[in-house]
Amino acid sequence: MIFLILLLVLKLSAGQDECTLTTCSHHGPTIRFPFRLNNHQPQHCGYPSFDLSCSQTNDTVLDLPFSVKVLINYINYTSQSIHITDPYGCFPRQLRNLNLSSSPFQFSDFVYDFSLFNCPAKGRQFYHRTCLSDESGSEVIVVYSDFFIYYEPLLSCRKMYNISSVSFEVFDQTPDLQLKWPKQICGNCKHKTSIVD
Ligand SMILES: *[C@@H]1O[C@H](CO)[C@@H](O)[C@H](O)[C@H]1NC(C)=O
Ligand SMILES: *[C@@H]1O[C@H](CO)[C@@H](O)[C@H](O)[C@H]1NC(C)=O
Ligand SMILES: *[C@@H]1O[C@H](CO)[C@@H](O)[C@H](O)[C@H]1NC(C)=O
Ligand SMILES: *[C@@H]1O[C@H](CO)[C@@H](O)[C@H](O)[C@H]1NC(C)=O
Repeated sequence: MIFLILLLVLKLSAGQDECTLTTCSHHGPTIRFPFRLNNHQPQHCGYPSFDLSCSQTNDTVLDLPFSVKVLINYINYTSQSIHITDPYGCFPRQLRNLNLSSSPFQFSDFVYDFSLFNCPAKGRQFYHRTCLSDESGSEVIVVYSDFFIYYEPLLSCRKMYNISSVSFEVFDQTPDLQLKWPKQICGNCKHKTSIVD
């Protein structure tokens, strides 16, 4: 009898779903296939590029190539998209290193190439001022790289760096950035819980 009970308990625990829904906090997005909470769930619960972690402040963190960390506020499993923010509230600082070509994630909006310039004087009203301005004390502006030659000369401005293939929203003061992942990653993500099911 004891043996039978033991067998039953073993069977129940083995059948228990190790890929159950999880979150980083009670207001954080639900994490499930194709996402996986790194170090908490086995690898087969998600796809490699969909590994998430929880920050010390219980935010949901996604790593993008190369060494770009973004916070996920919301995951829409129906439209297969995520809403992201920058952990420090200034995307232009870290998106210099962003390269999504090897990632399943793509911007939902159109993408362009941009060039950043650091200008000493303030009040360049025809240019878009970025959040980097506040840190450097000078004015950091952004222009479309392709149309650069049509702008009035940026006298005394110093070219900083390019940010390639991003949507213009990354330069908004409070960006609502959306990335999407392709349908073929998991077919109908709604009903799947792991790679092996
Ligand atoms: C994060 O979550 C843990 C466990 O729920 C809680 O003890 C801690 O206070 C939370 N930290 C923050 C910064 O909210
Ligand atoms: C998720 O995406 C679907 C399909 O695009 C849309 O109908 C739905 O409103 C979205 N949900 C939220 C909460 O935005
Ligand atoms: C992005 O990375 C790929 C290789 O993964 C490389 O071929 C490509 O040149 C990179 N793009 C940029 C803009 O650096
Ligand atoms: C930045 O973009 C401009 C315009 O497309 C280009 O001429 C320049 O070489 C780029 N700079 C770097 C460092 O990639």
